[in-house]
Amino acid sequence: MRAKTNSTAKNKPIGIFDSGFGGLTVMSAVNKVLPGENLIYFGDTAHVPYGSKSKNTVIKFSKDIAAFLTKSNIKMLVIACNTASAFALPVLKKQMTIPVVGVIEPGAKAAVTATKNKKIGIIGTEGTVGSNSYYKAVKKISKATVFQQACPLFVPLVEEGLNKGAITDEIVKLYVKPLTAKKIDTLILGCTHYPLLKNTLKKIAGKNIRLIDSANATASSVKKILEENAMTSGKNSGGKLLFYASDNPEKFQKIGSRFFTNKIKNVKKVYLE
Ligand code: DGL
Repeated sequence: MRAKTNSTAKNKPIGIFDSGFGGLTVMSAVNKVLPGENLIYFGDTAHVPYGSKSKNTVIKFSKDIAAFLTKSNIKMLVIACNTASAFALPVLKKQMTIPVVGVIEPGAKAAVTATKNKKIGIIGTEGTVGSNSYYKAVKKISKATVFQQACPLFVPLVEEGLNKGAITDEIVKLYVKPLTAKKIDTLILGCTHYPLLKNTLKKIAGKNIRLIDSANATASSVKKILEENAMTSGKNSGGKLLFYASDNPEKFQKIGSRFFTNKIKNVKKVYLE
């Protein structure tokens, strides 16, 4: 059954943002489940990484991006960055009049559904892990035991294209072995870049550990919210994709294509003061 559509929201785009390229994994998942929606992506390549920055700094960048995307008349905002979701989601939810979705709650729900032995591991940036956002989101809906590990070397590894190989194996072991030693059966990939390390993570963690990709869980949540609010485009294909980057659009186009299923074209540069 096709959801009813409110005619004012119908043709409006969905705004998606991240600190850089990583959120393209989320955009890609949204585009897959909602191919008829127009999507506008903002990658804050001038300020990446967010993962090692303070809460107030990440909130400021996030507010600036939300204000920029609001000018494009978006019908929904997706915070496609785990660190920005951890720090800025409550602030943006309060200040905006459209639905705002982060990646943490959908990822936590998917992990709670997946775990059998109620032992969940979380990996993410220093900011995400330090905020305890995933921990709290899991604890809110389950009695599962949660173990966390910040993995600051994963983002640079992925951006260098080192998704596999001897160096990557060693670094993944360093961060993931302490979690597997706790007998977790589910591991939340709490950072936009980690889905690109899936094969190595599977190899090191073992095939019995379920890897939870927040990108897919978030895309399902976006679809559900649009349908519940009668805000879908009503189309099954042909959604337009627009990309902005705050620095180096050429590099965004090149590296971004590793994170996105389609080829990225026409990235516009917009620097937000
Ligand atoms: N997008 C960030 C996240 O998901 C990772 C990159 C960064 O540190 O900015 O937390």
